[in-house]
Parts: sequence; structure tokens; C-alpha cells
Amino acid sequence: MKVLIIGAGFVGTATAAALADAGHDITVFDIDIRKIKAFASAERAEIESCIFEEGLADLLKRHKERLHFTIDQKKLAAVVLDCEVIFLCLPTPRTATGAADLSALEKVVKTLTPLIKKRSAKSPRLVMVIKSTVPISYIAEFEKKLAASDLKNVGVAVNPEFLAEGKAVSGSLHPERVVVGARTPEDFKTLAKLFQRFVNSATVKYLEVGPEEAMAGKLAANFVLFERVMTCFDVVGRMCEVLPNLQFEQVREIVKTDSRIGGWGWYDSLYAGGSCFVKDASSLAYQIKKSGASASLVEEILSANERQLNRLYERMIKEGGVKIKGAIFTLLGAAFKQGTNDVRISGALYFAEKILKQHPAELRIFDPVAGPEAQKYFAGKKEVRIMKTAAAALENAQVVIIGTDWPEFQALAPLILDKAAPKCTIVDGRRLLHHDYEMLRRAGCTVVPVGGPTVKEINGEE
Ligand SMILES: NC(=O)c1ccc[n+]([C@@H]2O[C@H](COP(=O)([O-])OP(=O)(O)OC[C@H]3O[C@@H](n4cnc5c(N)ncnc54)[C@H](O)[C@@H]3O)[C@@H](O)[C@H]2O)c1
Repeated sequence: MKVLIIGAGFVGTATAAALADAGHDITVFDIDIRKIKAFASAERAEIESCIFEEGLADLLKRHKERLHFTIDQKKLAAVVLDCEVIFLCLPTPRTATGAADLSALEKVVKTLTPLIKKRSAKSPRLVMVIKSTVPISYIAEFEKKLAASDLKNVGVAVNPEFLAEGKAVSGSLHPERVVVGARTPEDFKTLAKLFQRFVNSATVKYLEVGPEEAMAGKLAANFVLFERVMTCFDVVGRMCEVLPNLQFEQVREIVKTDSRIGGWGWYDSLYAGGSCFVKDASSLAYQIKKSGASASLVEEILSANERQLNRLYERMIKEGGVKIKGAIFTLLGAAFKQGTNDVRISGALYFAEKILKQHPAELRIFDPVAGPEAQKYFAGKKEVRIMKTAAAALENAQVVIIGTDWPEFQALAPLILDKAAPKCTIVDGRRLLHHDYEMLRRAGCTVVPVGGPTVKEINGEE
């Protein structure tokens, strides 16, 4: 089938790669020339300089004959004339009120409407699929807008995205469920043809529901995941920080081996970041409150996340004895989690921002893949230096912060002892070094970990 995807971000490219893998002919349109050039090149280094996702470069390369990336309005117009499906994979960031910013979607609808009008009466029916996460009531508004423009033979559907960054490609090729929300049998049929490989799959749940239900399911699922992580941070992790003789890893093992509870999300961290949890929960709270109901549980989950970041920062100062002004800091990790170069809503960078407000001498950042993104994020900040290796970043550091859960950071304790200043403070925002806390303490370091008490020399004890 001929498919148009608008938006070559994490969702748009993963969708494009997976649909091309299923044999469809895909055109991806974006306004970001750098991205379009990189993806069109089908070169790994180019692709990964924009989006670092395991398997993405391989798949884009393998299916380059069926994948067309463009920024050209004329090509866009030509594809609109005879495609069967248009996916809208546009950003819907959080605004100050918590509501989703729908301006990118609105702009694209304005661009597409006159192009769709030019389709001939003989063209097949067109299904416009909202893949962006949008407010539930926006779906009907979107339909009204199309109807007001007198578009003929066009349906609206919702196909929410459940991918997890870092595993976006495997998630798109082997999803647990595919949710299609539509209003007419024709549109369900078109999308079933597109997602043929999942319709009768023994491993994938293919769910056909109403468009609003599809979006509500997405928002609800994301909230439940977020709430799980916050239970881990704010209850399990906190217990292990403040009550005696508890080791986080032992306690969580007991919790997660209960099959009613399940194993996902039992990690402790300085913040639950990424482009979706905070944004979608804020939007959900806004939607519920706008209707006059209480969203206090959703709001409390958002507060728990902020509390987590602030508490670790305060502990660094009080328990870690850190004086920020004039000190050298090393931040290990910039991405919001391992396996991606995405720094949107990244706990590591939020923590760094708090430090920068208090004028450190230097804040060096090392991330295996997100260095260029961190550079852009802190452009113009002269105290920030992006380093190429962990060793260079650690040289004489007085405070070392682990901000991202890159697996390679787990073995860094000896390098920290070798390179950082003697008796440095280590803020382990991911508990990656927990096997080495005692060794670091004996070497004179102070370790302030999430999910555990501060580990330091007491009364000159060796
Ligand atoms: N990233 C995720 O893990 C994830 C998961 C599930 C759902 N979502 C949702 O999917 C949507 C997209 O997320 P994303 O992470 O892919 O965003 P993204 O920011 O990575 O990508 C969005 C793309 O849209 C492009 N764009 C913006 N305005 C445009 C315009 N007028 N015309 C053409 N292209 C335009 C941008 O240049 C960018 O490449 C959001 O609503 C998000 O909430 C994201």
C-alpha cells in the first residue's frame, strides 16, 4: 500500500521502517532538512547522528528502495494524490498549563487539506491516522475540521504508539498489541490490510475500538507505567533510603517476583524522564480537570517525580557535603535513559541545570551517544564541556553524578578512583555502582545513592 508519514521523529521513522519491512511503499515528509538528508542517505552514521535507536539504521538501509524521505512540497502533493493512508506523527509537547500543544498538527492539517481536495473522485478512500498522542476530545475536533473543509471520502483513525525508546524498532516489528480506533468498517478494513502481519498473529493482540477509546487506552497505559515507576521511587526507594538495614535490590526482588505485580519498572532513578510520561500525564490531568473532575492522583504522581529530583539534589548538598560554587562536576550520562540519544525531559540534564544555577567552576558531561544533543541543550553555557571519554570527563572531578543508566557505567568505580579528585562525592542517580559503594567508601569517597542511605566515612573510620 502507498503510505505517507508526516514527521520523521522517533515515532515516524520507527513506523516507516516497520511498514516498509511489511512491504509497503512509504514516503516520509518532514520540515527538518538535516533529518531528511540523513535518513535519505541510508548511511548508519548519518542516521544515528539524528536518531540513535538499535536496529533503525539497518532497517532503513535494508528497505531503502521502499522508503522515500522528502522535504519537497511538490513531492508531498504528488503522494497525497494517490496514497491510501496518511500517518500524523507530529510532536504534541506540554504547554505551561499541562495541555498538549497541537500547533504542529494544526499546521499540517492546513497544509494537507487543499492537497487532499485535489484527489480525483476515482482515488481510493483515504484514512488519516493520528499517531501523535492527543487529547481525547481533539479527535472529534479534527474530524469536524476535515468535514468543514468538505473533504470527500476521507476517514479519521487513531493508531496510538506504544513504543519504548531504545527498543523502538523491535517494539514496532514485534508489538504486544496494535490498537486501531476507527468509525467505519471501510477504515478498519484499510488498516487491517496495512497491518496484515499483525491481524492474525499468535503473539500480537490486534484491537479494533473507537478512536477515543484508542487514545484513552494509550493515555491510561502510559499513566499506569508512570505510576508504577513512581511507586518504586517514592515508596520502595524512599523506604530503603530512610529505614534501617534495607538494600533496595533485595526489597524490589521480593516485590517484583509476585506475578500479580510483574517485573517491569522496579528501578530507582533521579527522575522519570523521556518525551512521554510527564507530558502525557500532564495532558491527562488537564483533560480531566477541564471537565470538572479531580485529577489529584495524576497530579500527585507528577509531584512525586519532581520530589525525587529535588530530594537527591538536596541530599547531594547536605549529606554529600557538596559546595557547588567553584567546584568541578562530572555528569555521566545526558540521555533520559540508556539506548537512546534523546535528551528530552532528561533527569540527568535537569539535575545539571540545578547545579549550573549555583555557578560551578565546570560541569563536564560524557554520554556514549547523546553528547551532541547535550551540546545543543547547553549551547552558550561556558561552564559546560562535552567530553569524548569518561576518563577525560572524570579528571580531577570533585563531584561525580551518574545521570543515565548506560550499562557501561556499572564498571566505572575503579576509573573514578583513578581519575577523580581524592575523596570525591559520587551521586549515583541510577544505583549503577551499588556493588562498589563499600569499596568507594573505604577509598574515602562519599556516595549519595538514590534508593539508599549515604555511604561515607564515619569518625575517621577506615
Ligand atoms: N517518542 C516516543 O517514545 C513516543 C511514544 C509514543 C507516542 N509518542 C507520540 O508521538 C508523537 C511524535 O513523537 P516523536 O517522539 O516522534 O516526536 P519527534 O519530536 O521525535 O518527531 C516529530 C517530528 O515532526 C516534525 N515536524 C514538526 N512540525 C512539522 C511540520 N509542520 N511538518 C512536517 N514535520 C513536522 C519534526 O521536525 C520532527 O522530526 C508525539 O505526540 C508523542 O507524544 C512518542
